[in-house]
Amino acid sequence: MRIQRARDFKDMSRKAANILSAQVILDRRSVLGLATGSSPTGVYRQLIDWHGKGDIDFSECVTVNLDEYYGLGPDSDQSYSWFMRKNFFESVNIKPENTHLPNGLEKDAKKECQRYEDMIRCLGGIDIQLLGLGLNGHIGFNEPGAAFEADTHLVTLTQSTIDANKRFFEKEEDVPRKAYTMGIRTIMHAKRILVIVSGESKAEIAKRAFFGPITPEIPASVLQLHNNVTVVGDEAALSLILEEALA
Ligand code: GLP
Repeated sequence: MRIQRARDFKDMSRKAANILSAQVILDRRSVLGLATGSSPTGVYRQLIDWHGKGDIDFSECVTVNLDEYYGLGPDSDQSYSWFMRKNFFESVNIKPENTHLPNGLEKDAKKECQRYEDMIRCLGGIDIQLLGLGLNGHIGFNEPGAAFEADTHLVTLTQSTIDANKRFFEKEEDVPRKAYTMGIRTIMHAKRILVIVSGESKAEIAKRAFFGPITPEIPASVLQLHNNVTVVGDEAALSLILEEALA
Protein backbone atom coordinates (compact mmCIF):
# COMPACT_ATOMS: atom_id res chain seq x y z
CA MET A 1 0.00 0.00 0.00
CA ARG A 2 1.43 3.35 -1.02
CA ILE A 3 0.32 6.40 0.91
CA GLN A 4 0.72 9.84 -0.64
CA ARG A 5 0.33 12.95 1.44
CA ALA A 6 -1.38 15.93 -0.17
CA ARG A 7 -1.53 19.46 1.19
CA ASP A 8 -5.28 19.89 1.12
CA PHE A 9 -8.44 18.76 -0.66
CA LYS A 10 -7.46 20.43 -3.92
CA ASP A 11 -4.01 18.89 -3.94
CA MET A 12 -5.45 15.47 -3.03
CA SER A 13 -7.94 15.75 -5.89
CA ARG A 14 -5.24 16.72 -8.36
CA LYS A 15 -2.92 13.89 -7.30
CA ALA A 16 -5.73 11.33 -7.55
CA ALA A 17 -6.89 12.74 -10.91
CA ASN A 18 -3.32 12.36 -12.16
CA ILE A 19 -3.38 8.64 -11.37
CA LEU A 20 -6.76 8.17 -13.08
CA SER A 21 -5.73 10.14 -16.12
CA ALA A 22 -2.49 8.14 -16.43
CA GLN A 23 -4.63 5.00 -16.55
CA VAL A 24 -6.84 6.44 -19.31
CA ILE A 25 -3.89 7.76 -21.30
CA LEU A 26 -2.13 4.39 -21.17
CA ASP A 27 -5.28 2.49 -22.07
CA ARG A 28 -8.09 4.48 -23.63
CA ARG A 29 -10.45 1.50 -23.20
CA SER A 30 -9.95 1.45 -19.43
CA VAL A 31 -12.70 0.28 -17.12
CA LEU A 32 -12.88 2.89 -14.37
CA GLY A 33 -14.60 2.03 -11.09
CA LEU A 34 -16.08 5.26 -9.78
CA ALA A 35 -17.41 6.52 -6.47
CA THR A 36 -19.77 9.16 -5.11
CA GLY A 37 -19.76 11.22 -1.92
CA SER A 38 -18.02 14.53 -1.31
CA SER A 39 -14.46 13.14 -1.50
CA PRO A 40 -14.34 12.51 -5.29
CA THR A 41 -16.00 15.76 -6.40
CA GLY A 42 -12.64 17.56 -6.71
CA VAL A 43 -11.18 14.63 -8.68
CA TYR A 44 -14.04 14.87 -11.18
CA ARG A 45 -13.63 18.66 -11.45
CA GLN A 46 -9.93 18.22 -12.20
CA LEU A 47 -10.57 15.56 -14.85
CA ILE A 48 -13.23 17.78 -16.46
CA ASP A 49 -10.74 20.62 -16.54
CA TRP A 50 -8.05 18.51 -18.23
CA HIS A 51 -10.63 17.10 -20.62
CA GLY A 52 -11.64 20.66 -21.56
CA LYS A 53 -8.02 21.46 -22.32
CA GLY A 54 -7.80 18.44 -24.61
CA ASP A 55 -5.48 16.47 -22.34
CA ILE A 56 -7.70 13.50 -21.67
CA ASP A 57 -10.18 11.63 -23.84
CA PHE A 58 -12.90 9.44 -22.31
CA SER A 59 -14.56 8.41 -25.59
CA GLU A 60 -13.54 4.76 -25.27
CA CYS A 61 -13.69 4.46 -21.48
CA VAL A 62 -16.22 2.41 -19.58
CA THR A 63 -17.26 3.23 -16.03
CA VAL A 64 -18.84 1.13 -13.31
CA ASN A 65 -19.97 2.75 -10.09
CA LEU A 66 -19.69 1.25 -6.66
CA ASP A 67 -23.22 1.67 -5.46
CA GLU A 68 -26.73 3.06 -5.81
CA TYR A 69 -29.62 3.64 -3.42
CA TYR A 70 -32.35 1.01 -3.56
CA GLY A 71 -35.60 2.57 -4.75
CA LEU A 72 -34.05 5.58 -6.50
CA GLY A 73 -33.88 5.82 -10.28
CA PRO A 74 -31.71 7.98 -12.55
CA ASP A 75 -34.40 10.70 -12.58
CA SER A 76 -34.19 11.23 -8.84
CA ASP A 77 -31.79 14.03 -7.98
CA GLN A 78 -30.66 12.09 -4.89
CA SER A 79 -29.62 9.04 -6.87
CA TYR A 80 -25.97 8.30 -7.49
CA SER A 81 -26.80 8.04 -11.16
CA TRP A 82 -27.88 11.70 -11.11
CA PHE A 83 -24.80 12.63 -9.06
CA MET A 84 -22.48 11.05 -11.61
CA ARG A 85 -24.15 12.76 -14.55
CA LYS A 86 -24.06 16.19 -12.91
CA ASN A 87 -20.59 15.93 -11.39
CA PHE A 88 -18.80 14.16 -14.20
CA PHE A 89 -20.42 12.37 -17.13
CA GLU A 90 -22.23 15.37 -18.63
CA SER A 91 -19.02 17.38 -18.73
CA VAL A 92 -16.76 14.89 -20.51
CA ASN A 93 -17.01 12.87 -23.72
CA ILE A 94 -17.85 9.55 -22.12
CA LYS A 95 -20.62 7.68 -23.95
CA PRO A 96 -23.72 7.38 -21.73
CA GLU A 97 -24.10 3.73 -22.76
CA ASN A 98 -20.61 3.08 -21.37
CA THR A 99 -21.52 4.30 -17.88
CA HIS A 100 -22.91 1.73 -15.47
CA LEU A 101 -24.47 1.84 -12.02
CA PRO A 102 -26.62 -0.66 -10.19
CA ASN A 103 -30.28 -0.12 -11.11
CA GLY A 104 -31.88 1.14 -7.89
CA LEU A 105 -35.33 0.61 -9.38
CA GLU A 106 -34.87 -3.13 -9.83
CA LYS A 107 -36.73 -4.74 -6.96
CA ASP A 108 -35.41 -8.21 -7.59
CA ALA A 109 -32.10 -7.97 -5.71
CA LYS A 110 -30.83 -11.38 -6.75
CA LYS A 111 -31.36 -10.60 -10.41
CA GLU A 112 -29.84 -7.12 -10.24
CA CYS A 113 -26.74 -8.21 -8.30
CA GLN A 114 -26.12 -11.05 -10.71
CA ARG A 115 -26.55 -8.70 -13.69
CA TYR A 116 -24.04 -6.24 -12.22
CA GLU A 117 -21.43 -8.89 -11.45
CA ASP A 118 -21.83 -10.47 -14.91
CA MET A 119 -21.48 -7.07 -16.54
CA ILE A 120 -18.21 -6.32 -14.69
CA ARG A 121 -16.89 -9.76 -15.62
CA CYS A 122 -17.83 -9.27 -19.31
CA LEU A 123 -15.94 -5.97 -19.31
CA GLY A 124 -12.82 -7.86 -18.24
CA GLY A 125 -12.84 -6.50 -14.68
CA ILE A 126 -12.09 -3.08 -13.25
CA ASP A 127 -8.74 -1.52 -14.13
CA ILE A 128 -8.77 1.04 -11.35
CA GLN A 129 -11.32 1.51 -8.59
CA LEU A 130 -11.68 4.90 -6.93
CA LEU A 131 -12.84 4.71 -3.30
CA GLY A 132 -13.82 7.15 -0.60
CA LEU A 133 -13.77 6.07 3.03
CA GLY A 134 -16.88 6.14 5.21
CA LEU A 135 -16.57 7.45 8.76
CA ASN A 136 -17.14 3.93 10.06
CA GLY A 137 -14.62 2.46 7.62
CA HIS A 138 -17.12 1.49 4.96
CA ILE A 139 -16.17 1.28 1.31
CA GLY A 140 -18.95 1.52 -1.23
CA PHE A 141 -21.80 0.66 1.10
CA ASN A 142 -20.04 -2.29 2.72
CA GLU A 143 -20.82 -1.55 6.32
CA PRO A 144 -18.93 -2.89 9.38
CA GLY A 145 -19.39 -6.64 9.59
CA ALA A 146 -19.75 -7.05 5.80
CA ALA A 147 -18.45 -10.40 4.59
CA PHE A 148 -15.14 -10.11 2.76
CA GLU A 149 -16.35 -12.75 0.30
CA ALA A 150 -19.47 -10.82 -0.75
CA ASP A 151 -20.13 -9.89 -4.37
CA THR A 152 -22.58 -7.13 -5.35
CA HIS A 153 -25.49 -7.27 -2.90
CA LEU A 154 -28.31 -5.32 -1.30
CA VAL A 155 -27.41 -3.83 2.08
CA THR A 156 -29.29 -2.22 4.91
CA LEU A 157 -27.49 1.00 5.80
CA THR A 158 -26.30 1.59 9.34
CA GLN A 159 -27.55 4.56 11.35
CA SER A 160 -24.07 6.12 11.15
CA THR A 161 -24.20 6.08 7.34
CA ILE A 162 -27.75 7.41 7.28
CA ASP A 163 -26.60 10.23 9.60
CA ALA A 164 -23.53 10.96 7.47
CA ASN A 165 -25.54 11.04 4.24
CA LYS A 166 -28.61 12.93 5.44
CA ARG A 167 -26.88 16.24 4.55
CA PHE A 168 -27.67 15.41 0.91
CA PHE A 169 -31.41 15.02 1.59
CA GLU A 170 -34.11 17.41 2.74
CA LYS A 171 -35.14 15.26 5.72
CA GLU A 172 -33.58 12.25 7.39
CA GLU A 173 -36.71 10.20 6.53
CA ASP A 174 -35.89 10.70 2.86
CA VAL A 175 -32.55 8.85 3.11
CA PRO A 176 -33.09 5.38 1.62
CA ARG A 177 -32.50 2.59 4.13
CA LYS A 178 -31.08 0.17 1.58
CA ALA A 179 -28.59 0.27 -1.25
CA TYR A 180 -27.01 -1.92 -3.86
CA THR A 181 -23.24 -2.05 -3.51
CA MET A 182 -20.33 -3.88 -5.06
CA GLY A 183 -19.18 -6.33 -2.41
CA ILE A 184 -15.73 -6.47 -0.87
CA ARG A 185 -14.82 -9.29 -3.23
CA THR A 186 -15.88 -7.21 -6.26
CA ILE A 187 -13.74 -4.32 -5.04
CA MET A 188 -10.76 -6.54 -4.21
CA HIS A 189 -10.83 -7.96 -7.75
CA ALA A 190 -10.08 -4.52 -9.20
CA LYS A 191 -6.57 -4.51 -10.66
CA ARG A 192 -5.69 -1.28 -8.93
CA ILE A 193 -7.34 0.67 -6.10
CA LEU A 194 -7.13 4.38 -5.44
CA VAL A 195 -8.45 5.60 -2.09
CA ILE A 196 -8.94 9.27 -1.33
CA VAL A 197 -9.35 10.62 2.19
CA SER A 198 -9.81 14.18 3.25
CA GLY A 199 -10.43 16.07 6.47
CA GLU A 200 -9.82 15.69 10.16
CA SER A 201 -12.98 13.65 10.68
CA LYS A 202 -11.37 10.81 8.69
CA ALA A 203 -8.01 10.82 10.54
CA GLU A 204 -8.87 8.18 13.15
CA ILE A 205 -10.57 5.80 10.72
CA ALA A 206 -7.75 6.20 8.16
CA LYS A 207 -5.20 5.16 10.79
CA ARG A 208 -7.28 2.18 11.91
CA ALA A 209 -8.16 1.08 8.36
CA PHE A 210 -4.66 1.23 6.90
CA PHE A 211 -2.51 0.37 9.93
CA GLY A 212 -4.80 -1.51 12.31
CA PRO A 213 -5.92 -5.14 12.33
CA ILE A 214 -7.64 -6.46 9.21
CA THR A 215 -11.21 -7.06 10.29
CA PRO A 216 -14.73 -7.00 8.78
CA GLU A 217 -15.55 -4.49 11.54
CA ILE A 218 -13.52 -1.99 9.48
CA PRO A 219 -14.29 -2.99 5.89
CA ALA A 220 -11.55 -0.77 4.39
CA SER A 221 -8.90 -2.67 6.40
CA VAL A 222 -9.15 -5.50 3.84
CA LEU A 223 -7.43 -3.20 1.35
CA GLN A 224 -4.17 -3.95 3.19
CA LEU A 225 -4.34 -7.35 1.46
CA HIS A 226 -4.57 -5.95 -2.06
CA ASN A 227 -1.27 -5.68 -3.89
CA ASN A 228 -1.89 -2.43 -5.75
CA VAL A 229 -3.44 0.20 -3.53
CA THR A 230 -2.61 3.89 -3.48
CA VAL A 231 -4.07 6.08 -0.77
CA VAL A 232 -4.00 9.82 -1.38
CA GLY A 233 -4.88 11.77 1.73
CA ASP A 234 -4.66 15.38 2.75
CA GLU A 235 -2.69 16.57 5.80
CA ALA A 236 -5.74 16.52 8.05
CA ALA A 237 -6.81 12.98 7.15
CA LEU A 238 -3.25 11.62 7.48
CA SER A 239 -2.44 13.57 10.64
CA LEU A 240 -2.40 10.42 12.83
CA ILE A 241 -0.24 8.43 10.42
CA LEU A 242 3.47 8.60 11.04
CA GLU A 243 5.76 10.22 8.50
CA GLU A 244 7.79 6.99 8.05
CA ALA A 245 4.71 5.19 6.74
CA LEU A 246 4.20 7.64 3.91
CA ALA A 247 5.49 7.10 0.38
C1 GLP B 1 -21.09 7.11 0.96
C2 GLP B 1 -20.71 6.29 -0.28
C3 GLP B 1 -19.28 5.85 -0.21
C4 GLP B 1 -18.41 7.02 0.16
C5 GLP B 1 -18.70 7.45 1.57
C6 GLP B 1 -17.85 8.60 2.05
O1 GLP B 1 -21.77 6.39 1.91
N1 GLP B 1 -21.55 5.16 -0.50
O2 GLP B 1 -18.92 5.27 -1.45
O3 GLP B 1 -17.06 6.68 0.04
O4 GLP B 1 -20.06 7.79 1.67
O5 GLP B 1 -18.40 9.80 1.64
P1 GLP B 1 -17.70 11.21 1.72
O6 GLP B 1 -16.69 11.20 0.64
O7 GLP B 1 -18.80 12.19 1.43
O8 GLP B 1 -17.13 11.34 3.07
